[in-house]
Amino acid sequence: MDYAKIYQESIRDPEGFWKKQADRLAWHEPPQQILSQDENGFYHWFKGGKLNISYLALDAHVDAGRGDQVAIYYDSPVSNTKTSFTYRQLRDDVTKAAGMLRSLGVGHGDRVVIYMPMIPEAVIAMLACARLGAIHSVVFGGFAANELAIRIDDAEPKAVLTASCGIEFERVIPYQPLVNEALKRANHSPNHVVYVKRPEAEVELQPGRDHDWHELVAKAEPADAVPVDATDPLYILYTSGTTGKPKGVVREGGGYAVALNWSMEAIYDLHPGEVFWTASDVGWVVGHSYIVYAPLIRGCSSVVYEGKPVRTPDAGAFWRVISEYGAKAFFTAPTAFRAVKKEDPEAQHLGKYDISCLKNVFVAGERLDPPTYEWLADTLKRPVIDHWWQTETGWPIVANPMGIEPHAVKSGSATKPVAGYDIRVLDDAGAELPAREQGNLAIKLPLPPGCLPTLWNDDERFRKSYLERFPGFYDTSDGGFIDEDGYVFIMGRVDDVINVAGHRLSTGEMEEVIGDHAAVAECAVVGIHDELKGELPVAFVVLKDGADIEQEQLEKELVKRIRDEIGAIAALRQVAIVQKLPKTRSGKILRKSIRTLAKEDRNSVPTPSTIDDPGSLDEIADAMQNHRIGRYANQ
Ligand code: COA
Ligand code: AMP
Repeated sequence: MDYAKIYQESIRDPEGFWKKQADRLAWHEPPQQILSQDENGFYHWFKGGKLNISYLALDAHVDAGRGDQVAIYYDSPVSNTKTSFTYRQLRDDVTKAAGMLRSLGVGHGDRVVIYMPMIPEAVIAMLACARLGAIHSVVFGGFAANELAIRIDDAEPKAVLTASCGIEFERVIPYQPLVNEALKRANHSPNHVVYVKRPEAEVELQPGRDHDWHELVAKAEPADAVPVDATDPLYILYTSGTTGKPKGVVREGGGYAVALNWSMEAIYDLHPGEVFWTASDVGWVVGHSYIVYAPLIRGCSSVVYEGKPVRTPDAGAFWRVISEYGAKAFFTAPTAFRAVKKEDPEAQHLGKYDISCLKNVFVAGERLDPPTYEWLADTLKRPVIDHWWQTETGWPIVANPMGIEPHAVKSGSATKPVAGYDIRVLDDAGAELPAREQGNLAIKLPLPPGCLPTLWNDDERFRKSYLERFPGFYDTSDGGFIDEDGYVFIMGRVDDVINVAGHRLSTGEMEEVIGDHAAVAECAVVGIHDELKGELPVAFVVLKDGADIEQEQLEKELVKRIRDEIGAIAALRQVAIVQKLPKTRSGKILRKSIRTLAKEDRNSVPTPSTIDDPGSLDEIADAMQNHRIGRYANQ
């Protein structure tokens, strides 16, 4: 097949292109309009069509004779468990779980928050919601109670589905205290909280509100898949924006199913019956799309792994799981491979496993740094495919299409745009830039199927965040350039979002949490390069006049505060007190200069002409040196 032909057709005639892809799925009723716009001018795909994504992911395969094929392998080194579910078993379990939800009063359009570790019930819960046309919102287990509360208040769920605990390496993390704290903080009260009881932690059920998952499921009547509109929301997934309030990305089921099905074939080169392992978490978009929906819609076997790349039990974990289940494709974040490389630089563990099944390795979630790419390519001697996407898009924007016609790789580039994405590089005034000039990466509207149509209950924020800056385009908030051959190079976020170990976090939100401390007058949190995690947040704090607190004590309190309010994944470790933050004369904090100071010597960092007080930059440089931040870390 010819990439150029396919890509051009998708841009020239998006409706024709995506109709062909939609025709390959089992619709209850075919769409009446392939692409439409609502009263806000926002785009929707496949209006009038009716389908059910849980039916496509389960029943359709059982009906087609794949009932005995494994749908998911569950592998949990942290709980010493391995099980698998055939398509028939998974369909039956989802049917019962949907019946359980129905018995709790959950129906079409109702929201359900899922706060679970990587256990099969997390997948079952998502598909059970989809089966009823209820809207799930999965919250990553690493988020603290406050983050869960914020999401509960925004999504207003009828039920919260959770578990008695998560397990981090050997550490059991009881969820009930977190859920109870979140419910105390939230204004909205869900009617029901359902716990999957795990042997590692007890729960005390509050009569009336709290339930035992397995007890309820045992009593439930099976529920069939309800045909829903293609444009009905399938899920809300919250992601970090630039403020303390996360953005509720809405995903509509019809376009998502079509896009994912196409991506499995075209990008991941995966076919029914083959095994796909995505080592991520169902709390992230990568997990939604490539642990749950895409592999199941495509009729593949998906691995649900509750473990880490290292220390569960060793740096051979990835190779073990790939060989044990015969994964043809493996997908994770570069940071996970950096963790493996750090512990086993010679990849000695690899020798213990036969990974001849593995054809392609995919990475995303953050920049693939050249040393990690080279280590992986040398170690595995297979294609290592970087691809760029966002929670908002739900599937890749730029990728090497392994199922079409792979492009030659250029170091530092995720290669070329995926079908349906018309990517342009714009300057700050919105003018298109020539090849190789760096600017803002924007995607010409309409976005292809699967991408967000809006934000949950917040059309205005959707417009402001993504559409207003460059009319006619979706603003990705990533910077980069396109070379003369059409290769796209992603250079990183141009807003205050950072990427810590593949987790997307908002420095603005951290500043709000730090700013609430009684001693803090103002602060700046910036992401600083880290060998393992890609980026780490560091806080520079100005104390209130008269505040009496030692640096060490303040650091301890702020680190705890971020952990308690956002979660351990925010990984704030370093705080430096300064007299003044570098700002422009109009009061804007010069974060870029701070970030550059963490990489370069003060003498080579230009002092912006707009700066209010050049001495403030010198002070930041001194603070970095004193506190061993950034380039001074190992000195
Ligand atoms: N529940 C509770 N706590 C969690 C958690 C979860 N689901 N996930 C992470 N945490 C905690 C960790 O235990 C750690 O706590 P600690 O500070 O008390 O040690 C903290 O959050 C930071 O976690 P993390 O950033 O994951 O660092 P780590 O040192 O534990 O592990 C890696 C490092 C690289 C092994 C790990 O980050 C990893 O596997 N990353 C891949 C990320 C990924 O898959 N991203 C999805 C995009 S594809
Ligand atoms: P998330 O929404 O959590 O998937 O994070 C999306 C952000 O991660 C993007 O806006 C990018 O900044 C970054 N990102 C994702 N994939 C890549 C990639 N392949 N290369 C560089 N950055 C990436």
